[in-house]
Amino acid sequence: MKFSALKGVHDILPPDSYLWQRVEDLAKEIFALYGFREIRIPIIETTDIFTRSIGETTDIVEKEMYTFPDRAGRSITLRPEGTASVVRAFVENHLSTLPSPQKFFYGGPMFRYERPQKGRFRQFHQIGVEAFGLSAPELDAEMLSMLRTFLEKIGLQGLNFEVNSIGCEECRPAFRKALRDFFSPRLRDLCPDCQRRYEANPLRILDCKVERCIELRKDAPIVTDFLCGACKSHFDAVLTLLASLNIPHVLNPLLVRGLDYYTSTTFEVTSEHLGSQKAVAAGGRYDRLVEEFGGPKTPAIGFAVGMERLITLLREGGEISQPSPGVFIATIGQKAVTEGTLMAERVRAEGLWAEVGYDGSSLKSQLRKADRMSARYVFIIGDDEISAAKIKWKNLRDSSQGEIAFGELDTFISSEFCGRKKSA
Ligand code: HAM
Repeated sequence: MKFSALKGVHDILPPDSYLWQRVEDLAKEIFALYGFREIRIPIIETTDIFTRSIGETTDIVEKEMYTFPDRAGRSITLRPEGTASVVRAFVENHLSTLPSPQKFFYGGPMFRYERPQKGRFRQFHQIGVEAFGLSAPELDAEMLSMLRTFLEKIGLQGLNFEVNSIGCEECRPAFRKALRDFFSPRLRDLCPDCQRRYEANPLRILDCKVERCIELRKDAPIVTDFLCGACKSHFDAVLTLLASLNIPHVLNPLLVRGLDYYTSTTFEVTSEHLGSQKAVAAGGRYDRLVEEFGGPKTPAIGFAVGMERLITLLREGGEISQPSPGVFIATIGQKAVTEGTLMAERVRAEGLWAEVGYDGSSLKSQLRKADRMSARYVFIIGDDEISAAKIKWKNLRDSSQGEIAFGELDTFISSEFCGRKKSA
């Protein structure tokens, strides 16, 4: 019987997994500079956590959630994103009683039953951040600056920062009305989903991916024309700060995002190299969600980076560097295999990656293997070396070679690898 992974679900294999580790390590490093600490949230939640926050009329909730009853008949959903769970955890654990702002990062798999295509998967991974308790526009700008630093440090350039403000509950009614007025004569031409959205939540029409809806909304009212005084001055302040921080950005008034919890600032970072799924990271403010989850009034903002898309961009940028053994111990004869096994443990105790030629193949083929693995040193031991208690060594990078006594192994390693990263 032959098994395969589910459609839209992938294994992450070496050497790609090195790239993933590098990205995750760098994210943690950069986010720590801004005071973000890790939160680990569950992969499953009760379904209403997502329907209530992401919104009943969104694509995610309407069509994409992995929802099933558990054995007790409760409706459970595999998380399609992280924000809802972080907010649930924030409220449930009374984290609002701690000094503001509270800043968290998280990472891991998310699940959406979408039609798989380039850059779109059913299990995909995000690294996300959420900050609670500060409404100042400086926080919005700081988040975007942190995202820019992270993406630049990881080696990505030429990304577009698109920003918008979708206003608050104050400005929304007038905008909703203007949208309904605009779409009313076009209602019958909209897709069936948008005809429902027209009543329930006309903002969602601006996010529809159906070609004829995209065409029909070309001259639709623009959300920023409907901002209340507070939202307008917040957004103006964010834009001024972005200019001061030298973060090039474009205003995209259609950026309403595919999730309902957003208020005021929204943003996406896109790349032309990703095809139709071009957003590598996205986020915004959600100043009402904590309250809607039963917590105190707490402004909040966050974003999530799509790992698969980011890795695609990095892979296109060149070869993936990966670690290689510090020492490959080539053995001639059974006694040498045993001696090599013990020696490898001494090498590893010094913090170096060691491999041993265990399989009794010829010296030539062991050397070829060491070379293929890009080992830095080959140690050669056979019966003669064991009787003389010596190791023959060869540096595969500069072809230097020599001999050392078994007892000098630790000194040799610390002098050769001293000050450098040991697994070269
Ligand atoms: P989102 O825009 O749904 O936002 O997802 C964020 C990123 O996850 C996208 O920009 C994309 O890179 C990646 N992504 C989404 N769906 C897929 C998929 N099917 N396959 C591959 N990658 C995908 C959120 O999830 C919000 N929770 C972000 C946020 C955090 N807002 C505030 N805080």
